Amino acid sequence: MSILGVERIFYGVADPEWASRFYDSFGLKRLSSGAHGADFAVEDGTSIHLRKATDNSLPVAPIDWPMLNDSTAREIIWGVDSKASLDAIGAEMTKDREVRVDAEDVLHCIDDYGYPLGFAVTLRKSLVREFPATNTVGHHPRLNRVAEGTVRRPVAPARIGHIVYWAPRDIPQATKFYTDRLGFRLTDDMDAGGMFMRCDGSSDHHSLLLQGGPHTGFQHVAFEFRDFDEVMLLGAQVEAPGWKTNIGPIRHTVSSTCSWYFWNPAGGLAEGYSDMDAVDDDWVPRKFQPGKDPNFYGSSWRVRPEQNNTPPGTWRDERTAPGYAPK
Ligand SMILES: [Fe+2]
Repeated sequence: MSILGVERIFYGVADPEWASRFYDSFGLKRLSSGAHGADFAVEDGTSIHLRKATDNSLPVAPIDWPMLNDSTAREIIWGVDSKASLDAIGAEMTKDREVRVDAEDVLHCIDDYGYPLGFAVTLRKSLVREFPATNTVGHHPRLNRVAEGTVRRPVAPARIGHIVYWAPRDIPQATKFYTDRLGFRLTDDMDAGGMFMRCDGSSDHHSLLLQGGPHTGFQHVAFEFRDFDEVMLLGAQVEAPGWKTNIGPIRHTVSSTCSWYFWNPAGGLAEGYSDMDAVDDDWVPRKFQPGKDPNFYGSSWRVRPEQNNTPPGTWRDERTAPGYAPK
């Protein structure tokens, strides 16, 4: 089997129109919106779907994260490379859990925490974004031209990169579900801090993180942008209408990403990132010791540390953003 990455995310949302405005700001293409909720396309063909939290067609997703319980990702659909892979996953999952196949040939089940997940043959296309010429000491490939990043412009993500769930207990056992049953590769081990994994069909450092912590539920979705400039432009674009930064910008030590996280009214956080480590089966997972290792999920730099981990209560006020009419 080969799982390529996150294909679709279905959210159940207290206020789909408010959450839609966030994803508009994040650069996603709004395909439709109305009484059903809203649907958004990412450039590579993956997608985000917002539905009302009361929509009974969505599976129930465990969540214990005060002030966020009414809005969360209700199901993650993973894209696979072929019908043969889909059938192999179905055969594996039916060994010990209920599996439902819908009319569109999407396979649905739950993981060991009860988080709903699905699998579908991918609709994505491969994208390559050329890195712009960049001058450095003694090397000037951008001779007589200004940097592209000097131009303020709208930015949009190329693809969904990864998701993160809170891992409320027994992280090694929960990790085995993904590694032993679904072929994910462990890429870094933070012990009680969490486990990073990539899909077998992806070179991303991680497609999934089970993050140890005080909560249960969906933690964040991350979208890949071309480069550091685009992540900076994203930050300006998202903050302009009033959405709140959670952490960032930051250069992570684990996976190396340049990242910027925002509170997402659809549920949890949304991260924009660039420059993630690309790895294959020659990568040797590292072991980090929470609380002992100074590099534990740390950063070489982070900006505006006073805004780190802004409590969720502070971003609810954005319903008063200009032009927004509360329902
Ligand atoms: Fe992330």
